Amino acid sequence: MDRRRFIVFGAAGGIAVLTGCGGGAGGGGTPPTGTAPPPANPPANPPVSPPVAIPPTATPPVSPLTVGQPLADLVRLANTSATPGVFAATLTAQRASKSMLPDASTEFWTYNALVPGPLIDVFEGDTVRIRLENRLSQETTVHWHGLPVPPEQDGNPMDPVAPGATRLYEFTLPVGSAGTYWYHPHPHEFTAEQVFRGMAGLLIVRSRTDPVPAAIEEKLLVISDLRLAADGSIPANTAMDWQNGREGNYVLVNGLHRPVLTINPGQSQRWRILNATNARYLRLSLTGHTMTLIGTDGGLLRSPVPGLDEILLAPAERVEVVVTAGLSAQGSAVLQALPYNRGGMGMMGSASTTIPLLTLAYSSAATAAVALPSALNSIADLGVPTTTKRLVFSSGMGMGGMGGGMMSFLIDGKSFDPARIDLTSRVNEVEQWTIENRSSMDHPFHLHGTQFQVVSRTRSGVTATEPNLAWRDTVNVAAFETVVFNVVQHQLGKRMYHCHILEHESQGMMGVLEVVA
Ligand code: C2O
Ligand code: CU
Ligand code: CU
Repeated sequence: MDRRRFIVFGAAGGIAVLTGCGGGAGGGGTPPTGTAPPPANPPANPPVSPPVAIPPTATPPVSPLTVGQPLADLVRLANTSATPGVFAATLTAQRASKSMLPDASTEFWTYNALVPGPLIDVFEGDTVRIRLENRLSQETTVHWHGLPVPPEQDGNPMDPVAPGATRLYEFTLPVGSAGTYWYHPHPHEFTAEQVFRGMAGLLIVRSRTDPVPAAIEEKLLVISDLRLAADGSIPANTAMDWQNGREGNYVLVNGLHRPVLTINPGQSQRWRILNATNARYLRLSLTGHTMTLIGTDGGLLRSPVPGLDEILLAPAERVEVVVTAGLSAQGSAVLQALPYNRGGMGMMGSASTTIPLLTLAYSSAATAAVALPSALNSIADLGVPTTTKRLVFSSGMGMGGMGGGMMSFLIDGKSFDPARIDLTSRVNEVEQWTIENRSSMDHPFHLHGTQFQVVSRTRSGVTATEPNLAWRDTVNVAAFETVVFNVVQHQLGKRMYHCHILEHESQGMMGVLEVVA
């Protein structure tokens, strides 16, 4: 692989940046002076790995990808409707080439030739009409991950859009649905490949009465994974990828390798972060800073949770955090993914390495701090469940997975069958689900159509009650862990539930829930 260093001129700042230096570890920043006190509550999303020693002076290897470019804003999907309250647009699933490595071009599969896909930015109450044009040579769908849309509009594997075909997705976003969501393909067996080749985008539903002050500048961070061969191509999954879930050799933020985000001393920023990788667990930390968690998948928490040193973001999860730079901050800090052991076989990388994701550079102009309100959202407790469900995750040898994989990944001992109904729920009934992971790997559990409230997590016989009421559609179930949540489905029809390691989903670690009257 070509490891030359070369000079790059940043698009926004015009600053010369030497590749290989943009993500310098260690974070020369002074710890922020305005940092909140230690949390009254433990993190809402507690780290689940055993403590791993972090090499203190780990220097990231020189990257053949350009690093140190200014963090690009996401390209917005333009609204073509003139009618107030209607958002209309087209997403075209198409191949597109981009130059990532020097002297090589990389063909991605994309939405609208963008990696990541365009930002869909809408309001509660809006009616969304998005036409999908499939110019790929495989069937695809658009799944609106986390949104309460009707089942027939949700891009399920049972509703594929054939190559060359077009379909319209239409839904109205209810009041109360403000949050950070995303969209990605969900065709039977091809989801993993379409996502690792580039198809995923952020979707924000905004409230007209957002309690977070507008003076707290918003930044959007879509974290994706990319594996490139020396010739610039994106290689197919190996048997090991099908088993463990694919991790790339580059972790990108808004499509850029280790970009630079600027913050003023004293300034607070609201970061919405999406883990759009197929299988990588992001144990996020920001050197010299703590983070204040304000939101999860389905919207804001009741109140801010300050003082977090790290936040674990499993594949498909989203968080909103507030980051504040100290008034005397100088230099830069690094947003990084700390080592996390998710229990795969023969996985060397992420279980032992700290990966720099983004450089947070302090400008010289100080900004006055803006306080967060202590009350953010009125999340109603779903209350006492009137029925229960129990699901078991397991994996077995010798079942012949895709791509020569040796393992099968099962829910309740079964592999996905689109023609089978695995579970039935009554509409509007509060249920308690228990997800037990009997395998030696972590699996992020995801349920379509609604948001749930995690109640507790049990590991090695020790049960931890969830410290904060939060809306989630994805929850990590660590190896041999049991997670309990309460949930209600408000619409009739079929819903998917699955592991969001997309290689596991694509090989059948998925089931069908039918919601009946
Ligand atoms: Cu994000 Cu069924 O998936
Ligand atoms: Cu989903
Ligand atoms: Cu899994």
